[in-house]
Amino acid sequence: MKNFITTQNWSRSELQDILDFAIKLKNKPHQPLLKDKSIAMLFFNPSLRTKTSFEVGINELSGTAVILQPGKDAWPIEFGENIVMDGESEEHVKEVAQVLSSYCDCIAIRAFPKFVDWDHDRTDSVIKGFAKYSSVPVVNMETIEHPCQELAHILTLQEHYGDLTGKDYLLTWTYHPKPLNTAVANSSLLIASKFGMNVSLLCPSEDYLLDDRYIEAARENCALGGTSFDISYDIDTAYSNAEIVYAKSWGCLSFYGNTDKQIASNNQYKHFIVDEAKMSLTKNAVFSHCLPLRRNVKATDAVMDADYCLAVKEAANRKHVQKSILSKIL
Ligand code: CP
Repeated sequence: MKNFITTQNWSRSELQDILDFAIKLKNKPHQPLLKDKSIAMLFFNPSLRTKTSFEVGINELSGTAVILQPGKDAWPIEFGENIVMDGESEEHVKEVAQVLSSYCDCIAIRAFPKFVDWDHDRTDSVIKGFAKYSSVPVVNMETIEHPCQELAHILTLQEHYGDLTGKDYLLTWTYHPKPLNTAVANSSLLIASKFGMNVSLLCPSEDYLLDDRYIEAARENCALGGTSFDISYDIDTAYSNAEIVYAKSWGCLSFYGNTDKQIASNNQYKHFIVDEAKMSLTKNAVFSHCLPLRRNVKATDAVMDADYCLAVKEAANRKHVQKSILSKIL
């Protein structure tokens, strides 16, 4: 039994197999590969793309999707160990995971960090709790990483460029008025480095550096692949080297848990918006974003509507890669 929680537990060739099969599913969407299989999908946070693409994809493979929102249409769940459950939670992940495992063949989880204490949030306790107590595979639908988005991103880039080895890849922070999850940014570093690209991370300041775990993993992946990894605080230099620009906003870890301070910090860096002037510095780069995206805040209309913007294609590829992941692990 293999979980799909982080791409770091999968080799590049295993991930390429998933991508190759996703292309086959894209060309022939309806196949009974999940016949008699049920997937429980637990959403602790909102979603448009993930919920729709998983549910439609599972239906196309003749499986059954059960969507639950703990605390809304299902009981609130406790994840702490050895605690007196006299708060809001009505049941423990230990029972929930075992019960869902008895009904379903897979459990998929979306659980964002709480944005209070990064030392706790970086333990990814919700999905780890399910992985610990489930007897069926667990799939990450975004926690502190977003591996399904990673594969859709790589598939889209491969469709555009073919082999990505040696491509110059830029992950840039972009402005958003609220502090957002670091998951897609973490994932971007993991997958771009794993697929043999030269990776550059552009941040407004050191306060916006991602967790060392992801920086070091990207460094190691790049070292293994013989490519480069660097961190930049200079917009012009970072863009001028790029063949791929991936943008994401995230809350700075330095002020994690202090929302007012994070917002004040973000507000200094509105000029990190992705615009035509920055894209014109690049080596004819493509642009993408995981979506949702606030137009003219994170990226301009001109960038979003340009031929080089792959964001909608990447979102569409979510369905194909997720169907391929489920087919492989089930
Ligand atoms: N990119 C992504 O996961 O979108 P949703 O939050 O809408 O699912």
